[in-house]
Amino acid sequence: MRKFAIILALLLVLDTGVGTAPKKYVALTFDDGPTGRYTAQLLDMLEEKNVPATFFLCGYRVAQYPALTARIAEDGHEIGLHGFSHTYFPELTGKELDDELTRSSFLIAEASGAAPTLVRPPGGLLPKKGSVFSEFAVILWSVDPEDWATHQSGRTVRRVLRTVQPGDIILLHDASESSVEAAGEIIDALKKEGYTFLTVSQLAAAYGETPEAGCVYHGFAPG
Ligand code: NI
Repeated sequence: MRKFAIILALLLVLDTGVGTAPKKYVALTFDDGPTGRYTAQLLDMLEEKNVPATFFLCGYRVAQYPALTARIAEDGHEIGLHGFSHTYFPELTGKELDDELTRSSFLIAEASGAAPTLVRPPGGLLPKKGSVFSEFAVILWSVDPEDWATHQSGRTVRRVLRTVQPGDIILLHDASESSVEAAGEIIDALKKEGYTFLTVSQLAAAYGETPEAGCVYHGFAPG
């Protein structure tokens, strides 16, 4: 009984200690997939490091890689839309945009078992006035290391580590070896700084928010 009391006291002390420091949460997001080899490499790495992420998928690639799409969901990651053809939304008519989102959403639901509720427009470009997202929350980002442009993992990692703050949404792409490498290094470095990785919806919830359809989010910075 005494032993139990000591353990209980210890737990209370530990709990108080944890409670005093604000938790640092961040979300990794990957656009333009699934891409086959690189997405598979990324999923292996995330599984090994036990880190959830959010994938904004292109419909035409979901059609090409339904099994990878299914694995993304099975591994506990979140899936959002990134259009069907990766055409910038301002270049599409309202009907074309609706078609893109409906087709992609259907394919994702068919492969993963769940219809997405988040959308990230290609290039972060919102549709022309008049087109509204009635069904999806728009998720942009707060940290963009431009991994797709440099293809240098070291530069991508440095750019992220220089600016990252709790509540940030980090933009990456599972479209090259250097991005997958960078993601692994970012995870290791931020874990050392006390960060916990969450999906976008989990990140919002951690800071008391819920992504709402029709609203645009860049991050969920506390305060
Ligand atoms: Ni893109």
